[in-house]
Amino acid sequence: PISVRPVGIGSSAPSTVLTNFDLESVHDTSDEWIRTRTGIEERRVLVHDGTRKVVHEDGGEKAERETLRTLGIDAARNAIQMSNINPEDIQLVICATSSPDDLFGDAPSIAAAVGCTTRTVAFDLTAACSGFLFGIVTAGMYLENGACKNALVLGADALTRWVDWDDRNSCILFGDGAGAMVLTNTKSDDAKDESEEDGFGILGYSMHSNGGGYDELKCIYRGEPKKITTPGEGTVVHDGSYDLMTMNGRKIYSFATREVPTVLEEAMEKAGITVDQVDHLLLHQANIRIMEVVAERLGMPMDKVITNLYKYGNTSAASIPLALDEAVRSGRVKKGDVIACAGFGAGLSWGAAILKW
Ligand code: ACO
Repeated sequence: PISVRPVGIGSSAPSTVLTNFDLESVHDTSDEWIRTRTGIEERRVLVHDGTRKVVHEDGGEKAERETLRTLGIDAARNAIQMSNINPEDIQLVICATSSPDDLFGDAPSIAAAVGCTTRTVAFDLTAACSGFLFGIVTAGMYLENGACKNALVLGADALTRWVDWDDRNSCILFGDGAGAMVLTNTKSDDAKDESEEDGFGILGYSMHSNGGGYDELKCIYRGEPKKITTPGEGTVVHDGSYDLMTMNGRKIYSFATREVPTVLEEAMEKAGITVDQVDHLLLHQANIRIMEVVAERLGMPMDKVITNLYKYGNTSAASIPLALDEAVRSGRVKKGDVIACAGFGAGLSWGAAILKW
């Protein structure tokens, strides 16, 4: 177990909704096909020059550009507000993303925007749809060893930027969004008046990757040749372009249904708990059929499964905190509940963590 407690959760999604019916006019597909094969009804997308209305502290309203970074800031502010922790007391910010606004990293600018100081270390972490899960475990290590007292972990992705809109197999799946969680180190929590057992927020975890399967879901740097004039023949360097995302849906489906039940069992074993002690199952929101198969293999009823996939599609690293935020704010997840979480996706990467809310 890791001596941390999740104390705040927040999320944010773009204001533009793209429904299955909208996609019917783009492709030879149907709302019925998408709903029955995936469970998705609509998704939120960051649109070119999209803006949102933001209420400022002085009460005035302002239109702000909607980007991955602004979604991240919004989600982080919501999580920090719930945590009651002063952003100046957050020493670590990790932004799990595969689609940052800035290839050099979004975490530092998000940290600055929410009021963290230059004493905060902030960096991005890339692990596709497993990113948030890998992020909270990484933050848990910093907290556990005393390197910091409070951490903010974001999962934020805008995969619709990299989707091939001509490929009906994959473009129906993805949406954009951001989620954030504040974690605190319970070892150094002087005000804590709870039992030692309550001090553990990550009861157990297990993480894997298999680069042998990277070809099944990827977004590869292409680099077109570009000649620069240097003495003699000149030098051919390359420009900064990427190919669009490619995915072998069936392979990813069988990878997920094979590995996710096993990694959840590994994490539960490390946590020393059985399936019956888990209150909620929260998987990366990729496909409702994957969730049904995993729940069945674990012997868990579907009413324990948290999902909001139908509204957001697959938001990659954002999907777990986006669904958890809704479940916490609606009162479905209560303090002390045990949540079995699993992320899986490109890399290939996959992992599970047993969280105590
Ligand atoms: N509308 C209508 N028909 C379609 C569509 C569509 N949008 N897409 C595919 N089809 C057709 C196919 O062409 C195929 O037709 P054919 O039999 O004539 O060739 C038929 O539907 C069945 O295709 P399958 O690929 O077998 O469909 P399947 O039931 O496997 O569903 C899906 C496809 C939804 C992609 C599924 O495989 C899946 O969810 N896989 C996992 C994908 C995933 O989760 N990816 C993200 C991982 S997370 C990350 O890291 C980003």
